[in-house]
Amino acid sequence: DIPSLAESYADYFPIGAAIEPYQMTGLHADMLKKHMNWLVAENAMKPASLQPREGEFQWEQADRMVQFARENKMELRFHTLVWHNQTPDWFFLDAEGKPMENETDPVKREANKKLLLERLDTHVRTIVERYKDDIRSWDVVNEVIEPADPDGMRASLWYKLTGTEYIETAFRAAREAGGSDIKLYINDYGTDDPVKRDRLAELVTELLDKGVPVDGVGHQTHISIHWPTVDSIIESMRKFHELGLDNLVTELDMSLYAWNDRSDFGEDIPEEILQKQADRYGELFEAFRSNQELLSGVVLWGIADDHTWLSSFPVTRTEAPLLFDELLQAKPAFWAVVDPLQQP
Ligand code: G3I
Repeated sequence: DIPSLAESYADYFPIGAAIEPYQMTGLHADMLKKHMNWLVAENAMKPASLQPREGEFQWEQADRMVQFARENKMELRFHTLVWHNQTPDWFFLDAEGKPMENETDPVKREANKKLLLERLDTHVRTIVERYKDDIRSWDVVNEVIEPADPDGMRASLWYKLTGTEYIETAFRAAREAGGSDIKLYINDYGTDDPVKRDRLAELVTELLDKGVPVDGVGHQTHISIHWPTVDSIIESMRKFHELGLDNLVTELDMSLYAWNDRSDFGEDIPEEILQKQADRYGELFEAFRSNQELLSGVVLWGIADDHTWLSSFPVTRTEAPLLFDELLQAKPAFWAVVDPLQQP
């Protein structure tokens, strides 16, 4: 019988996994109960899942996750109130059903902006009010920084139609609806990159100066066995820690391939690749442990290699980014993370 991941880390920080609804039963559920003390919905709590049509909230899957977490004394975190992806079109249609983006009349554009921010406010408040007693940690906005876009802000419809007001509205509505017991995060990938990290820090500082209630930064941490350096990940956390913010690792996984590489290991992943992955995972968790004051939790983006978004991104191929293999068995990476904590 192998040790429990979460129990091994009990003195350090909680460990979680992203899940799909089907994983709340059977072998996946057994693994969650044994190895994780946090959970997050991989897709079930995104805007398109919760409010596919205006005013028609669909709670069934999200409610089941809340129930599952409660029954198993696990903490559920929320992903995500706002995103540019998996968000239904109706948000961005004007009162006549036309795309707000196409409006050229400044007066009508202003009215559209108001309508969009009202819709956002309703979306956020309705969800936060429902789950505030069960969910403490919330991704309020996701992936708003894009260094290649104007101002370093992702040129999403949200940004094009409201500037940074959508970010302010979302955080303020969440705080008002949820009170100060819930923790509000700005979540992004590539936060180790100095340019992106600095733009994010600048934005967060501006928000805090305006009294916008941001509690922490979620670092997705979709990394690979080749990049980035563990030091750059820790350095970024230190930067936000110094700004008085909490850090969370929210979507950790580790691709077997280099960025821009489109090759495929096929059925047989070379052993040295899995060993390299284990070494990297070991190094990363060692850095998390020795800098535990910088972070308050680590969430993996999946349970095991049988289900991972990376097997269809950026191309369809064999991927194995997690700590358990496609047969749900512990990989070298699992042992690299857990072994240093075993009693002699
Ligand atoms: O639900 C539909 C199903 O009805 C349909 O038959 C099927 C056919 O393609 O698609 C299903 O939806 C898929 C959905 O996952 C649920 O499985 C979408 O196509 C697919 O695009 C979607 O991918 C998700 C992706 O976000 C969307 O951008 C991944 O599962 C999810 O892991 C990924 O998660 C994101 C985080 O939210 C933010 N950070 C990056 C991370 C990885 O991309």
